[in-house]
Amino acid sequence: MAIICRENLFSIHTKNSTYQMKVEMGFLLHTYYGPYVGDMDMSYLARRIDRGFSGNPDGAPDRRFSLDTQLLEYSAYGTGDYRNDCLRVEYADGSQVTDLKYVSYEVKEGKYALEGLPAMYQEDAKAETLEITLRDEYKNLEVILYYGVFEDLDIITRACRIVNHGKDPVHLLRVYSMCLDFYGKDMDFIHFYGRHAMERVMERSPLQHGMQGVGSRRGYSSHQHNPFVILCKHDATEDRGFCYGASFMYSGNFAAEAEVSQADDTRLTMGIHDAQFCFEVQPGDSFIAPEVLLTFSGEGLGQLSRNYHRAIRYHVCRGKYKTARRPILVNNWEATYFDFDTEKLLDIARDAKEMGIEMLVMDDGWFGKREDDNSGLGDWFVNEKKLVGGLKKLVDGVNEIGLKFGIWFEPEMISEDSDLYRAHPDWALTIPGRSFTRSRNQLVLDFSREDVRQYVLDRMCEILESANIEYVKWDANRHLSDVWSAQLPAGRQGEVFHRYILGLYDFLEKITKRFPDVLFEGCSGGGGRFDAGMMYYHPQIWCSDDTDAVERLQIQYGTSFAYPVSTVGSHVSVCPNHQTGRNVSLKTRGVVAMSGTFGYELDITKMNDSEKREVKEQIETFKQYYGLIQNGDYYRLTDDGRASNVVAWEFVSGDKKEALVNAVILKTMANPIFQTIYMKGLKPDAFYEIEGREGKFTGAALMSAGYPLPVAMDDYESVQLHVYEKTEN
Ligand code: GLA
Repeated sequence: MAIICRENLFSIHTKNSTYQMKVEMGFLLHTYYGPYVGDMDMSYLARRIDRGFSGNPDGAPDRRFSLDTQLLEYSAYGTGDYRNDCLRVEYADGSQVTDLKYVSYEVKEGKYALEGLPAMYQEDAKAETLEITLRDEYKNLEVILYYGVFEDLDIITRACRIVNHGKDPVHLLRVYSMCLDFYGKDMDFIHFYGRHAMERVMERSPLQHGMQGVGSRRGYSSHQHNPFVILCKHDATEDRGFCYGASFMYSGNFAAEAEVSQADDTRLTMGIHDAQFCFEVQPGDSFIAPEVLLTFSGEGLGQLSRNYHRAIRYHVCRGKYKTARRPILVNNWEATYFDFDTEKLLDIARDAKEMGIEMLVMDDGWFGKREDDNSGLGDWFVNEKKLVGGLKKLVDGVNEIGLKFGIWFEPEMISEDSDLYRAHPDWALTIPGRSFTRSRNQLVLDFSREDVRQYVLDRMCEILESANIEYVKWDANRHLSDVWSAQLPAGRQGEVFHRYILGLYDFLEKITKRFPDVLFEGCSGGGGRFDAGMMYYHPQIWCSDDTDAVERLQIQYGTSFAYPVSTVGSHVSVCPNHQTGRNVSLKTRGVVAMSGTFGYELDITKMNDSEKREVKEQIETFKQYYGLIQNGDYYRLTDDGRASNVVAWEFVSGDKKEALVNAVILKTMANPIFQTIYMKGLKPDAFYEIEGREGKFTGAALMSAGYPLPVAMDDYESVQLHVYEKTEN
């Protein structure tokens, strides 16, 4: 049993962790989260003294019990806990105080689901659910805390539901999905910041008194901060030490905050950002706060990442392409931008076929009046001036060549210069009569509205049904501003951000159900909505608009902390690179792109014969290692290049008999220093060979003494080592 409940003590055990809560004086206290401790009451750790200015709730036995100083499981505003709280409710009388007391619990077989929201699902894993109900008696407001327990994966999910059993509507001003309290403050806060074309850069700093946090108020999870954070002990490394991860399965505004209290304790909170948030809940109705995936690793950051990789790959991503091999594609964006027609695309398809590429993706520019990025969004009608004879003719032509066909959409957007905007200006998020903000010269459709969504869904379905389309790239190229919806009354405009995301999820659920064989790739100007929520609908997401292989090292390194390579859209592009002007060998571009979904994004018709041969070999290599890359265990062998001259990572098969080591040596050196790579995850006693190299090595040697890299004669040279167990004699 993963969940043990007795005498007001709730213990959740996974393979390597224990999580515990206890009811005292009617309050649900948090007692522990960390390494597995067996069957014991961890409340012996609680410290109680009469701390000045920390008040005592009604019924407290003495002045030593204060909600301000106890570890709490779910903190509500207004009854003496002055730390960052999870719940703020405004009641009909204007008061905002909520006093949550324990009511009951229930343990259920299997993992709970959340209506209208993505959530981890059980499939063939062992999973249980714990539901704990808390209540504010005075206002008859109920909070149901959900815990999904994946014992073997070391994952505990959290979500909650706020139910209004009162007789008046209430306004939710903040509903975070969780808080997680710890004794002590000796931890580092790790988060992943960035910008367009440089997403998810890892940053680690020691916790300080007060608040440190990240978040998004942009309507999307954003390039600027990823909804994923880690708290770890100061001494935690890739391979050892305690670390806690929290990944928010939500694609809109979020806040992830760590607060060190007056008593040197730490609270981590995560949830929908409360800026511009105010949600009305009618009597009898409820509100669901999205899911957080928690994991604890006692073996460093590498294991923490592998826990998430498994969870997301097998219990978040869905559909046929969760496990089926994804086609190796060529995308025409960086090849042609808007300047293409049927003939050009067929030329690309013919060359692609010869090289072994399996799918052609037609990117932006095939619809409406769309010659550049200033017009046409919303007009999802084929531009037959470009695609002479129509879409079906092109798709049939591509299929005849022997390739699958994929297409680009930006469903949530609208250009002012479009027939759709001319017909329905009120469908865009703007405030009537007020000037508004353009970004990429476009506006955002009000996806909180059913009628707007239905129109776009119908258009998309018509296109997808008109030809044999097997892939969709779903883009979203700006953030939200001027947020106001014509369909909500004045007092409910604080719901629009969240309703937009609920609308988006509703749309995605419908379209992915309707086209179960289509592979959907998410995108938001690259990785602007690269979160576990989107992965529930899109098993892969274009990782970044930065296709420079060297900058991708840092982006893909940061991305790997929470997300498996199977979700990382990654392509070989042309040199000089369009974003940085940098020249990097085709080999290195291939090695970097292979640690993702793999494809090409350049005008392959302009490649010379030797480059075409090299591409053909890369594709064969990728196919050979596909299983190892996509299903193997991922190990980071170095940092992202900020401190070292080599960036290296490795895939190891589940049985540890095979590994693929990838390394990029950043700078060549005169009179060089030798670089050694230390492998991980092998069997210490087994003997391994390295393809194309002399010798036989024990796993222990390769891991502890390492393997020397060749001397680089050019910047950004790369090495790919195939390591396999030598079994005979
Ligand atoms: C975004 C995407 C690109 C490309 C363009 C098209 O920037 O990230 O890959 O699809 O839009 O406009």
